[in-house]
Amino acid sequence: MDKIKQDLMKEVADLIKQGGVVAFTGAGISVESGIPPFRGAKGLWSKYNPEEYAYIETFLRNPEKVWIMLREMYRCFSEAKPNLAHLVLAEFETKGYLEAVITQNIDSLHQKAGSKKVIELHGSGDRLVCLDCEKEYPFIEEYLKLTPYPKCKRCNKPLKPAIVFFGEPLPEKALSQAFELVKSCKVLIVIGTSGVVYPAAYLPYEAKRSGAKIIEINPEESAYTNSITDYFFKEKAGEFFKNLSFFYN
Ligand code: APR
Repeated sequence: MDKIKQDLMKEVADLIKQGGVVAFTGAGISVESGIPPFRGAKGLWSKYNPEEYAYIETFLRNPEKVWIMLREMYRCFSEAKPNLAHLVLAEFETKGYLEAVITQNIDSLHQKAGSKKVIELHGSGDRLVCLDCEKEYPFIEEYLKLTPYPKCKRCNKPLKPAIVFFGEPLPEKALSQAFELVKSCKVLIVIGTSGVVYPAAYLPYEAKRSGAKIIEINPEESAYTNSITDYFFKEKAGEFFKNLSFFYN
């Protein structure tokens, strides 16, 4: 690591140690756990056009088709374990630096890493819900074997993962908690998101407007990099946190 990078790392580590930190994460933080991001060559959306597969209207009209994509999504999740980035965020919370993780991810890896305060903006794949009677079922792998799709035991209607499809509103409580958190945080660490899916994508702008410093980690530039980011680390999340560990212990 060159001297400029070392100084930057130290500055960022000192900022984090002052507390009042919130993390905002996207699919990129789980890439090193083996889950490809949505957008990009190996992403789910390059195989399944989201216009066709990820809208709630499609699910309502043709659940069988959407479950083909969902089975593949769940298979990517099944082997995945938290990586260093998830683990360090959980450690930051234990140390009192980090107030919460706001995530767009539905893979539960922050919770598996030990994070306690996790705001899930796009719901979670850890349960299935009946759109008719609203009964919830904890997700188990067995559901992936059911054809044409898993059904509610009570009303025989298709079950849908408790994730937010395009065209569905975000969970109200999670969204308002997220806005409160970014308005009052001192530092927002933005990890692995392209920043193109709204309303979640507003959060870093809101944090910046409220005076927070924005630290961003992403091997590619995002919508935020040249507009609001104060410290940009153009690298994988795992690499960043490995380097950071030399400065914050
Ligand atoms: N570390 C950090 N960032 C990474 C890594 C990595 N190892 N690998 C890739 N990235 C970055 C990519 O450069 C990209 O900017 O992660 C980002 C992933 O972007 P998207 O696939 O668009 O994922 P995300 O921003 O979470 O998508 C938002 O869109 O499809 C919907 O609901 C879905 O929650 C999702 C939302």
